[in-house]
Amino acid sequence: MLCFRQHPYNKTYYTIRMTTMNDFMEHTIQELYSAETQALEAMPQLMERAQSEQLRQAFQQHQTETEQQVQRLEQIAQQMGIDPEGETYIAMQGLIEEVQNLLDEVEDTQVADAAIIAAAQKMEHFEIAAYGTARTLAQQAGKTEVADLLEQTLQEEKQTDEKLTTIATSSANEKAAQA
Ligand SMILES: [Fe+2]
Repeated sequence: MLCFRQHPYNKTYYTIRMTTMNDFMEHTIQELYSAETQALEAMPQLMERAQSEQLRQAFQQHQTETEQQVQRLEQIAQQMGIDPEGETYIAMQGLIEEVQNLLDEVEDTQVADAAIIAAAQKMEHFEIAAYGTARTLAQQAGKTEVADLLEQTLQEEKQTDEKLTTIATSSANEKAAQA
């Protein structure tokens, strides 16, 4: 299959060829690696704007977790004999840019928390979908160790998502609604 892709920065078009399921798997791992490293870079900025202690702590914990998740992807890439670094994953870049723009406009502190939680959950939901796909691909290819590592991260992402829902329903959104 021949695909055309536009480079995110210089906007030139280039072609990529994915002929095997292994190629697709490699692409998925690189996509996740790009997403996680971008998320990791954006986290301190989001944490800085977080108002509730509960949210700040959740971010702090997820930052440590994400560092481990990046290492896990490096381990997976090593096992598969591939380079984890590929093209920038534009969908994650878009989600991060959107929350950055939104936070420029949001002044109310509690509303900022609600905006941060909403953005973080969009990022988590992408990761849950992508890790689920990658895990299933690894299972189908008989790469049990890789599948187990991906499953481990998938569970962490689900827990983070649930924690964010709890924070949103218990404090941030409630306070914002009152403001
Ligand atoms: Fe993650």
